[in-house]
Amino acid sequence: MPMSKNIIELDASVRIKELIKEIKQQDKFYYQDDSPKISDAKYDALRQELAELETAFPELKQQDSPTNTIGVSPQNSGFTKIKHKVPMLSLSNVFSETDLEDFMMRIKRFLNLPETENIDIFAEPKIDGLSCSLYYKNQQLIHATTRGDGSIGEDITDNIKTIPTIPHNLPDDAPDEIEIRGEVYISKNDFIALNEAQEEAGDKIFANPRNAAAGSLRQLDSNITQKRPLKVFMYAIGYSSKEISNTQDGLHKKLKEWKFQVTEHINICQSLKEIMEHYNFIEENRAKLAYDIDGVVYKVNDMELQNRLGFISRSPRWAIAHKFPAEQAETILNNIEIQVGRTGKLTPVARLEPVNVGGVLVSNATLHNEDEINKKDIRIGDHVVIQRAGDVIPQVVSVDIKYRNKDNKNSVPFIFPETCPECDSPTKRKDGEAAHYCTGGLYCHAQVVERLKHFVSKSAFDIDGLGKKIIEDFFADKLIEKFGDIFRLEHSHSEEIRSREGWGSLSADNLFTAINSKRNIPLDRFIYSLGIRQVGQATAKKLASSYGSFDNWKKTMQIAQNRDSQEYEDLLSIEDIGAIVAEDILLFFADKHQQAILNDLVEQLNIAEFENIVDLSSPIAGKIVVFTGKLEIMGRNEAKSKAESLGAKVSGSISKKTDYLIAGADAGSKRKKAEDLGVTILSEQEWINLIS
Ligand code: IVH
Repeated sequence: MPMSKNIIELDASVRIKELIKEIKQQDKFYYQDDSPKISDAKYDALRQELAELETAFPELKQQDSPTNTIGVSPQNSGFTKIKHKVPMLSLSNVFSETDLEDFMMRIKRFLNLPETENIDIFAEPKIDGLSCSLYYKNQQLIHATTRGDGSIGEDITDNIKTIPTIPHNLPDDAPDEIEIRGEVYISKNDFIALNEAQEEAGDKIFANPRNAAAGSLRQLDSNITQKRPLKVFMYAIGYSSKEISNTQDGLHKKLKEWKFQVTEHINICQSLKEIMEHYNFIEENRAKLAYDIDGVVYKVNDMELQNRLGFISRSPRWAIAHKFPAEQAETILNNIEIQVGRTGKLTPVARLEPVNVGGVLVSNATLHNEDEINKKDIRIGDHVVIQRAGDVIPQVVSVDIKYRNKDNKNSVPFIFPETCPECDSPTKRKDGEAAHYCTGGLYCHAQVVERLKHFVSKSAFDIDGLGKKIIEDFFADKLIEKFGDIFRLEHSHSEEIRSREGWGSLSADNLFTAINSKRNIPLDRFIYSLGIRQVGQATAKKLASSYGSFDNWKKTMQIAQNRDSQEYEDLLSIEDIGAIVAEDILLFFADKHQQAILNDLVEQLNIAEFENIVDLSSPIAGKIVVFTGKLEIMGRNEAKSKAESLGAKVSGSISKKTDYLIAGADAGSKRKKAEDLGVTILSEQEWINLIS
């Protein structure tokens, strides 16, 4: 038996809570008090760790997670609030050339460009200051704001006007209305001088130039701000009533022409190699710059492409920040343990001699799978190099073999177990997959407990007071063994729970109320909660949207067990559901045991039918569209996401119900079928005309 069961997920849950608390605390120090208590690298590492844990364990994501927000809401700060005309977003980060390459590939795929095609990338230093937005109307500076929470900022107009390099008027060729974004900073030399003066006067000493800048800008008395050596680099446009330039480079030049200070050491790069060269150049010269920077920002140079790429949640798709590297550290690998997940997947976990990596104490790292261990030749007892940044959970980068004895006496190769460490069932490696799985299914208690935890988690049933630890305890004491038991607890074990250690009538009643309040559940949430392998929130939503009701979904999945049926074809035609995901869904419905558990659960619930939300004002709202053939103007993903954002339903196959077939080049059988069924066929250009 491993020392502790499912430790990664347990650790992750605890860690996520710790991180949220810590980040919120640090946000307050940083944004409200302008007095951070930790370094930027440490702060970044906290956010990065949280974001990546949330990606790895989406069911653990908390609604109030700081990854959903930017900064803090400017409440009670003493400043007037101003809504930005266009939200002030943040940037996603990359930490390696590989991640950068992925970013470039994603862009090309989205734009439907060949992998070999070069896209001009405008690269410039990432200034370590605080962002501001300047709003000009009729060429006059009207107001200036901080970022705030991204939607609403604080009015810092009087303070901004004390910065000598900011023009109060723009030339006549400037748009009538424009929001210009930039970074306020204090140079390294000015910072030293400022701190000396502060010290002499017995005033507050600033931790670094950025905090000095933030503290200086967010002064309620602009006379104080005036005495501070603030400067500003402008680098982006929020809103503009007319086009300024069709390139980022052109914008940069225009801003300079309008007398704004703009970033130095910019470059237009044509290939990954050129981007990396510029990155290395900036990093090498970082210390020589007059101001602090914390990375390099890359922006797609062509504005039209920027518009097409658009935004994802908090950040633009067309830009990314390449942060300077996080630290690595070396430590000893004490043991390798196996964690069993909800789907039976076995994950080897490195138990490390605790080590400080970039300010965080690390004692566990993921080893991913058997291949990873073999490829890096990682053995228990080895000295290993650990890295935190850019990875989901700390990673073992490599082994420092100079510590290995010649005869390898100190290190023991790891043999992947042939049986599940939790239930002893044989383990199996699926064809084409690196992971091993426990074959125990619902016989494996580890899997059952993990599924129950998933079921009650935030994005699933979200039952307050039924956390992971309680699920474990209740499972161990046989209070909950399957999903339906949760909804029977009040009747089956009320007294027992009231008298449990740490419980009382009040907490028991609260739990029962929380459980009862979740008997009504939307279909997509319900599907996601079942924990079917490969059915995450997005897939659950697609299934709910396609089948509408639970009864219809269930009935159809039973018919689809016949792989020759139309129902099976229809399942495959749902976007993102390929044969492998379909197998997992059908397997779930084929398993008698699972069906008994499902039926038992459904009796306890009201599952609401799924209502598709459509943008009724668009010409394709509510229409069913199918794309076929090679699209030349937009990539498939872009076309699809555009259609969906306008309220259309994108299907993979033609039927009588199809409203439009958008036929790209070389459209084959679907076109023929559409013709036969009398479905309207549009060329890609006709389609673009229709939606724009
Ligand atoms: S472009 C739509 N360019 O870094 C977002 N941002 O970590 C456009 N920053 O929110 C931002 N230097 O406050 C851009 N050269 C630069 C920057 C830069 C610093 C800041 C900015 C942004 C943050 C993201």
